[in-house]
Amino acid sequence: MQNLEKSMISKLIETAMEQLKFSYTPYSNFKVGASLLTKNGQIYTGCNIENAAYTPTNCAERTAFFKAVSEGEHNFAAIAIVGGAEDAGQLDYCAPCGVCRQVMMEFCEPATFTIILAKSEHEYCIYKLEELFPMGFGPKNLEENI
Ligand code: THU
Repeated sequence: MQNLEKSMISKLIETAMEQLKFSYTPYSNFKVGASLLTKNGQIYTGCNIENAAYTPTNCAERTAFFKAVSEGEHNFAAIAIVGGAEDAGQLDYCAPCGVCRQVMMEFCEPATFTIILAKSEHEYCIYKLEELFPMGFGPKNLEENI
């Protein structure tokens, strides 16, 4: 799935937006939704989930990845991410944090895994993981040592 069809991009963005209503953000009020596409066409969803102790907070992207991996899925094609401050009344481009990029690096091919950052169904930017996470450290770096 090198090139995502426009209809799939729209579906991923729409699905990510639907997750904003589940976002649990009593501390930041910053809502994030994600939809993660597997290579065989399944979609896993995620929202950010905050915590009174702050550090246990889980980003929307990792929620989606962990849901998928916990069900045995390891082959991913793309993720759509939407987000913004609740009181802003509109979405801004929400780039994945460093920890989420590292999790992507664990399960995705940097040259092909597609990251869609969207403000709306029609306003979005598309990146490959290697663009957002150049020279990332991943499973391949350990291959010779395992
Ligand atoms: N957050 C995400 O869910 N994904 C990102 O890519 C960036 C940040 C969440 C974590 C926290 O709940 C809130 O946004 C503010 O950092």
